[in-house]
Amino acid sequence: MDIANRTVFIAGATSGIGLELARRFAAAGSTVIVGGRRTGLLGKIAAEGFGTVSIDVADSGSVDRARDTILRSHPDLDTVVTMSGVMIPEDLRDPAHFADAEKTVDVNLLGTIRVVDAFTPHLIRRGAGAIITVTSGIGFLPFPLMPTYAASKAGVHAYSEALRAQLDGTGVEVAELVPPAVAVTPEAKKVNPHALDLAEFATEVMDLLQASPTPHEILVKGVLMHRWAERDGTYDELVAQRSRALAMLPSLR
Ligand SMILES: NC(=O)c1ccc[n+]([C@@H]2O[C@H](COP(=O)([O-])OP(=O)(O)OC[C@H]3O[C@@H](n4cnc5c(N)ncnc54)[C@H](OP(=O)(O)O)[C@@H]3O)[C@@H](O)[C@H]2O)c1
Repeated sequence: MDIANRTVFIAGATSGIGLELARRFAAAGSTVIVGGRRTGLLGKIAAEGFGTVSIDVADSGSVDRARDTILRSHPDLDTVVTMSGVMIPEDLRDPAHFADAEKTVDVNLLGTIRVVDAFTPHLIRRGAGAIITVTSGIGFLPFPLMPTYAASKAGVHAYSEALRAQLDGTGVEVAELVPPAVAVTPEAKKVNPHALDLAEFATEVMDLLQASPTPHEILVKGVLMHRWAERDGTYDELVAQRSRALAMLPSLR
């Protein structure tokens, strides 16, 4: 895809990977609108020159209002990125985890569907555009500390495949960004020293996005071992390794 001449809305770009990719698209020459709930951050991001919109992807009314606001100011919108996500550890032996499971599905899976639904008619009418969904290496290789997170991202993967098939012939591409662990804060690097540096990750993502045709999956080198573990016969061993993180659950101490 051409990254220089797009009008891009990123839902969930007030921090982390979304904000970094917003800056990369803008630096390449594209117009970017950043969405999220934290209005203080949206104010600072607007001061950087971005368009901003308040959006809660767990609320259909909020998503539709954000869509209407964006299309009024940017009728040429051609790219939508569904970045919003939450990542919550859960102890499945304690039914109290259900509230976190519900929130995770509501934001990560249903939130993606709400945003896609809100913008798909506009993109189809344009006859050209792109939807970039965001999953995770964990959607392909579970991290047992975050069961519903893994399930939600596996769900977004399957949904993205179906969306691509249904939009075939409309001119709207569907790409799935599959990040591995990325250190979006200095603290994150301390917790997981193997996490990728955010700037390096973003550089690799923007390089991959520029391929033509746009790849169905944006896979940086650091996620290949997760993406292909089942095919490569390393799945059981890697899941066992990742299960060691269960020692972090308070009730196991
Ligand atoms: N960092 C990683 O290691 C990693 C790895 C694989 C996949 N991912 C995925 O990458 C995406 C970005 O994560 P990140 O690591 O950059 O984390 P982050 O800094 O916490 O970013 C999450 C973004 O989602 C937004 N968000 C959360 N709930 C929302 C809601 N209800 N409505 C609208 N926006 C909402 C947040 O904005 P507000 O709080 O302002 O609403 C924020 O901008 C997520 O989908 C995550 O699952 C991350």
